[in-house]
Amino acid sequence: MAERAALVTGASSGIGLAITEVLAQEGHEVTMVARRAEKLQRAVASLAEAGLEVHGLAADLREEQEIRRIAAAHQQRCGRLDVLINNAGVGFGAALEEIDAKRVDMQLQLNLRSAILLYRECVPLLRQAAAQHRSALVVNTASISGKRGQAWLSVYSATKHGLVGWTEAMNRELAMEGIKSTALCPAFVDTPMTDFVKEHVSAEEMITTADIAESVRLLLRLSPRCLIPEIMFMRIGDEL
Ligand SMILES: NC(=O)c1ccc[n+]([C@@H]2O[C@H](COP(=O)([O-])OP(=O)(O)OC[C@H]3O[C@@H](n4cnc5c(N)ncnc54)[C@H](OP(=O)(O)O)[C@@H]3O)[C@@H](O)[C@H]2O)c1
Repeated sequence: MAERAALVTGASSGIGLAITEVLAQEGHEVTMVARRAEKLQRAVASLAEAGLEVHGLAADLREEQEIRRIAAAHQQRCGRLDVLINNAGVGFGAALEEIDAKRVDMQLQLNLRSAILLYRECVPLLRQAAAQHRSALVVNTASISGKRGQAWLSVYSATKHGLVGWTEAMNRELAMEGIKSTALCPAFVDTPMTDFVKEHVSAEEMITTADIAESVRLLLRLSPRCLIPEIMFMRIGDEL
């Protein structure tokens, strides 16, 4: 059995891939979850080549059965769970009149519902880890849109506000047991998700995935007494 184990969703690119690398460097065996199998396998191979202990599991997080399968497969392989990273997410811009119900459902299912269901499926293993070292950790990748509603990203903003609220509720429900939750709230990060905006805001002006991943390294190093409920990441020049 690995000494520490983690499960990361949306791990095949961007923020999730960078967080996975940090977790593996910090001695975690990591289950990497993403939707497209080929892309995921390339990400797994890039980290495995560097000697890191990672495994890929392709699944669509919009499906409850898939979420059950992920938790069961992780338990079978690793036997423990110290860190859960709910990171997979998607955003569609639209003016109010143009909002499409299917896209509303997709954002709610992936950005909010999948995190809720994965907590439920993972809490027995998180409780075991917390009983052992009182620092089981759940990190939820929200967004700065989860702190300030954004015009034309209204549905995305609503899901991310939901995730921030959910994180707060989980701390009230679980932190005394040693299961700590943190919401990450970044502005633009240089990932494939922000390619659409790079004509106007260059990649060089964006937050890096390493900035986000290093915050997870910090969270891993906190004493069991210390909880960081939320971290905001702003770009220099953003309205504070
Ligand atoms: N980039 C930013 O500026 C920014 C800012 C604030 C917050 N965030 C949040 O950060 C998180 C990661 O975003 P990113 O920027 O790193 O984007 P990204 O590089 O596009 O990564 C998204 C990840 O989610 C996976 N995913 C998408 N749909 C899925 C599904 N139905 N089931 C399972 N996995 C699925 C993707 O896999 P496939 O590619 O196979 O679909 C990919 O691994 C998201 O929650 C996003 O909202 C991003």
